Amino acid sequence: MKKILILLLSVIFIISFSLVGVVGCKEEAAEEEVVAEEEEVAEEEEVVAEEEEEEVAVTGSVGIVLPTKDEPRWIQDETRFNDALSAAGYDVQILFSEASSAKEKENVEALITSGVQVLIICPQDSTAAAASAEAARDAGVKVISYDRLITDTDAVDYYVTFDSVSVGAAQAQYLVDKATGTGNPLYLYAGAATDNNAFIFFQGGWNVLQPLIADGTFVIKNSSEAVAVQDTQLDATADHETIGAIIGQITTNWDFDDAKSLAEANLTVAGAADKGDVFILAPNDGTARAIADAFAADSDVTSYVVSGQDAEIPSVQYIIDGKQSMTVLKDVRTLVADAIAAAIAYLTGGAPEETTTYNNGVIDVPCKPSVVVTVDQSNVQEALIDSGYYEASEFTGLD
Ligand code: BGC
Repeated sequence: MKKILILLLSVIFIISFSLVGVVGCKEEAAEEEVVAEEEEVAEEEEVVAEEEEEEVAVTGSVGIVLPTKDEPRWIQDETRFNDALSAAGYDVQILFSEASSAKEKENVEALITSGVQVLIICPQDSTAAAASAEAARDAGVKVISYDRLITDTDAVDYYVTFDSVSVGAAQAQYLVDKATGTGNPLYLYAGAATDNNAFIFFQGGWNVLQPLIADGTFVIKNSSEAVAVQDTQLDATADHETIGAIIGQITTNWDFDDAKSLAEANLTVAGAADKGDVFILAPNDGTARAIADAFAADSDVTSYVVSGQDAEIPSVQYIIDGKQSMTVLKDVRTLVADAIAAAIAYLTGGAPEETTTYNNGVIDVPCKPSVVVTVDQSNVQEALIDSGYYEASEFTGLD
């Protein structure tokens, strides 16, 4: 009986993730019936009945859409999805939006046409994706917003995310912990204004830094809009416009080249007195590497402390080499597992676990944010290698 139940659970999982262009539900069901026939007659009837019930309840498929292959972050997600699903003996098709909302819409339409019942989507542009979410909702598809929240629509069923306020807070706290004295030059950078997360990360970082900007520990060097509100705590929703104005001056657009050009432009405007030992709030690893390279190349910069996030392999190497100060590990395995669990919950007629909600401008979207971990040279081995997240062989210079 236990064996049968395990088999049933495996079959449920496999059926749940029969993705576009992949068939197999019928074969699985047939195999399952053969196994059931080999069991005792009394148990057989019971199991077959359960099995039929489960098949009706969980038949369906899932589509996954990720934003871009140009950033190691989203390749991590693809790899972790593949690992999680192929561990169950299954091939997965994941569509990428090539950093284009138009391509994203095409991907979603293709998935709807192919009959998916759950869509896991990380929007390229939080607002623009509302139309795709609505098209999915109209087709009866459950919409799981993955990592980035789709905003300005009620067509989002669930949000799988990390605690993004704590990401920004961890970045800022790192700068605070490294600063001594007063008048420390502070350079602020942010993500893309089209990404709701950029506002949340900034809120998290700002609210840790702000009291120390107000008391003179830090002096903002590259945003007059931030200086204008330096006596105020900010909220990503209530102060969306204020944060938007700041982001307008310090955005990297999540783009390495934009990040590097903006940092270089800031350094060109700044005098030698605005440099020396500097502190840099960089929003993620890709932009942190670009910004760090620009600051490292300036002879008036004596030292810099720079934040990051994602624990991308190139940034972990930068940390080992002393070129990036820290990163925030967002364990993508957890996010993927949460997304899979949410999809299975919907396919089996249930609802995913909710511990809080995020307001997307129209509704409070249920979610269960995951915790994040600060990583720097002092714990890189323990947090990323000993934990099994990465292989030591991916890096040079580890002790
Ligand atoms: C994600 C980050 C990522 C950034 C740029 C954000 O929405 O949460 O992990 O670095 O987008 O892609």
